[in-house]
Order: sequence, then structure tokens, then C-alpha cells
Amino acid sequence: MLTDKTIVLGITGSIAAYKAADIASQLTKEGARVEVVMTEAATWFIAPLTLSSITGRGVVTDMFEPDSQRTIEHVALGEAADVVVIAPATASLIAKLAAGIADEMPALIVLATKAPIILAPAMHANMYENSITQENLAKLKARGFVIVEPEYGRLASGGVGRGRLADTDKIVGTIKQVLGRRGDLAGKKLVVTAGGTQEPIDPVRHIGNPSSGKMGYAIAEAARDRGAEVKLITAPTSLPQPAGVEVIPVKTTLEMQKAVTKAVAKADALIMAAAVTDYQPKTTAKEKIKKDTPELKLELVRTPDILAEVKGDFIRVGFAAESNDIVANAKKKLEKKKLDMIVANDITAADSGFGVDTNKVILIDKKGKVEKLPLMSKREVADRILDGVVGMMGKR
Ligand code: C5P
Repeated sequence: MLTDKTIVLGITGSIAAYKAADIASQLTKEGARVEVVMTEAATWFIAPLTLSSITGRGVVTDMFEPDSQRTIEHVALGEAADVVVIAPATASLIAKLAAGIADEMPALIVLATKAPIILAPAMHANMYENSITQENLAKLKARGFVIVEPEYGRLASGGVGRGRLADTDKIVGTIKQVLGRRGDLAGKKLVVTAGGTQEPIDPVRHIGNPSSGKMGYAIAEAARDRGAEVKLITAPTSLPQPAGVEVIPVKTTLEMQKAVTKAVAKADALIMAAAVTDYQPKTTAKEKIKKDTPELKLELVRTPDILAEVKGDFIRVGFAAESNDIVANAKKKLEKKKLDMIVANDITAADSGFGVDTNKVILIDKKGKVEKLPLMSKREVADRILDGVVGMMGKR
């Protein structure tokens, strides 16, 4: 997915430098060419050999080696970079960049490149909160730098505060978002729903379904990577929040409907991957229902059909989980809900549907085109759905 991308990973001298190995590893695994540049202080925390073993490439640690080729390395790397990421970025590096001082490799590359720059700060909370650091970061943000905010938690000093290097997933997600800025969904607004809605019976019980949210999250991430501005309206899942996506958590169908209605106001497309609970208890008990009767009857009423009822001019994509007459049933739903495309899902197929990482689907559009896809990862399915959405844009 990051194939053909050159990512310059700058590492500066912080205890969090060891986490750069994980970042380099994830980027390399996804196919990127990772060029590591380190300050001398960074090499006290993590050996260049660790990084070069992970990336399979040389690591630049020194500006002025006797070998004259290396003195201009920052220019070559700066030009080759699709994105420059400094992780961890110390307070000192941030101050130098804000002042335009470049006396070590990572800072030199930042000055020498025209590629977007991402900084992931890591430092003691007091240093991070200090107004000097905050002013420096504000200055860099105003110049277009993307900052991956540090997290709150235990610090190397033993204290607790905001200053821990952001999670690898968050940093890698931000890199993908930045790289996607020129993608085929650049400037488009997408609303994606995911997960299974839950309808409370009492304060501790609900009606629900086993949707993991994986399909919807894969669509949100794929759309982000293609440059879209994504709102992900998600019922409860155990998945990590994708970086670079606006996540709107909801629980019930009515909450999801409210969030969807609001989010689609300026949207180009709505993709409803959520498994919406079809019925909700007519009333919700205020106290926990005691199990002192052998039988308990629940009265259920239908939930609203979010997709069929939502108003506005945007591309509508729905899902249809089917166990028989898949294409015919899905086509009926496409017509009934006035959709542009429906993703029919054979829930009886092995490794397909709820919970798993793969899916076997049939894409059906409103013109009657039927495309049967083989079993593939949910991420690949997501991209195929988005190919369809891109194809429909501007043609409606
Ligand atoms: O009717 P069925 O539940 O099979 O339709 C599935 C599609 O409709 C999905 O895209 C789902 O997210 C959406 N849906 C909805 N509101 C409901 C039920 C389903 O938006 N109450």
C-alpha cells in the first residue's frame, strides 16, 4: 500500500527513539522505501544498525563525513522524499525548526525538502506544555507542518502527563493521510458508518449483533488514504480509532440516525456499512430487570431505516447481508432504498462477513451492473467499493 513511496524518517534524541524501530518496521512491511536519518543524540538511544536491519537500507547519522558524497545527502534525500516524518521530535528540534536552524541531519532535510512534513513530538509534559514549545509548534503548524500530538501517560521521569510519543498506528495513519492528499478522493467528503448498533433493554443489557466494525473501518481508512475527508460514525467496536478520520461514536440506531443526518449535510457520499439493529425494545427499564420470573417478554418496535430515510444529494452505498438469492434480494434493497450501489455479502460463505478480516461480496450498481469479487481482505473490498464511488462522482 505504501509501495513506491519514499519516507524519510528522522529520529532525534529522546527515550522514545526506540519506538522509531516499530514505525520503520511497519512502514517497510507496507512496502515503503524508508530512509532513516538520525541525530547523534538519537544514536545514544537506539543503534543505527537496528534501523538499517529493519529497513534494509543505509542510515545517515552524520552531516559532514570525509566521504564527500554524504555532505549533499540531505539535498538528495529531501528531493526523493514523498513525506518527511520526524518521530520522536524533541523540544530542541522543534525550537531549531521554528528558528530556521539546521545543524543536524533531520533538520537539514526538513529545510531541503518540498515534501509534506510530519512531526511527532515526545518530551516531558512540562516541556511540552511550556509556552515556548507551544508557540514553536503553532508557528510550524501555520507553515503547514502536520503535528501528531503526543499522548497522555507515564513519562520516563516517572511522572504522568502529556508528552509520550503517539502510538505507531497513529503516526503511520497520519503518514497515509498526508500521502493521500493527491488521491482520487482528494477534497471529497465521505460519511461512513460501522459496527452494530445497540438497543438498551435495561441499564446493563441490550439487543445487538456481532458486527465487528472491520468493514466500515477499512472503508474509512481506505477513503482517508485516497485523500477524502472522512467522518466515521461508529457503533461500539473494539477497534482502535483510525488516525486522520473524524470518529463520531454512537450506540443506538436513533443516535446513529441523528449523527448521519447531521454529517451528510455537505457530503459527497454516504457508505452505510453499519449493521443496524432492526428492532428496539418499546420501553427501556430504568432499573436492572431482576431474573425472578421464568419467562420474560420483551415488546419490540422497528427502528428507523437510516439509509432509506436520509435526505440529500450524495452517492448512497448500502450493504446487504444475505444468506440466499443474494443478487435478487440485494437488487430489491437497492431499489427500495434508492441506492447508487449495494454491496451484497454472502454470510454463508467461509471467511466472509461478521468478525473476520476477509469478505466475499458482489457489487451491484443502480444501472444493473453486477460485479462478483473473489474472497479478499476487507481493505481490498473497501478499495473496490471506493473505485465504484469515484466512478460515479460527477456522473449523477
Ligand atoms: O434492510 P437491510 O438491513 O438488509 O439493509 C442493509 C443496509 O441498510 C445497510 O447498508 C444498513 O447499514 C442499512 N440500514 C439502515 N437502517 C436500518 C437497517 C439497515 O440504514 N434500520
